[in-house]
Amino acid sequence: MFTKVVSIALLTVFVQAVFASKCTRTYVVKENDICDSISKENNASTYQLAVVNHGVIDAACTKLVPGQQICLGRAGEDCTTTYVVNDGDTCDDIQAKSGVNATLLYSNNPQINEGCTNIYIGEVLCVAKTVVVPAVPSHGASSVVVPPATAIPANPGATAVHPSVHPSATPTPTHLNVNNNNDDDLPFCDEL
Ligand SMILES: *[C@@H]1O[C@H](CO)[C@@H](O)[C@H](O)[C@H]1NC(C)=O
Ligand SMILES: *[C@@H]1O[C@H](CO)[C@@H](O)[C@H](O)[C@H]1NC(C)=O
Repeated sequence: MFTKVVSIALLTVFVQAVFASKCTRTYVVKENDICDSISKENNASTYQLAVVNHGVIDAACTKLVPGQQICLGRAGEDCTTTYVVNDGDTCDDIQAKSGVNATLLYSNNPQINEGCTNIYIGEVLCVAKTVVVPAVPSHGASSVVVPPATAIPANPGATAVHPSVHPSATPTPTHLNVNNNNDDDLPFCDEL
């Protein structure tokens, strides 16, 4: 039983690696672009832009080259419903404004840490009503998307762990079940 589960998980990773879907939206980098300005203008979240360009754009997005063509979204994994983080925003605020629950917000933005203390002003989040972004890469969300050096935390005082995401000292993994692709990539663990 255990072996079977592991095999299926490995097969899933393999299938995703081999059959990564086709890029369906592209963008040509302009002078003075930064990743989050591209994300904002084109409704492609910070996480999505980083994942679909992994290996092309570095994690902190410091090496964009004007004229370079990048991918904005891949077929079937393209979240075009986005929200730009404002000063003072908490994940609760964003959920309320966007009409999504914590499960969806964290599944579509797996770089957000457990207490939602790492969101920053200008970060572009996917606030779609279904899970639509690419799966978390095997090396973890935090290795693919790193806040820019100039990032200003949206909510420096935030320390509370979201009660609906981590209701007790032994968090249940139910909130991750929305996206079965992520079984082996518990996004929060990377941030601890
Ligand atoms: C991004 O989304 C906004 C709000 O839905 C919309 O007004 C705008 O046209 C979209 N831009 C692009 C490039 O899709
Ligand atoms: C979050 O919203 C989605 C979509 O509406 C729903 O399927 C899911 O059950 C909700 N999860 C929780 C924990 O409320």
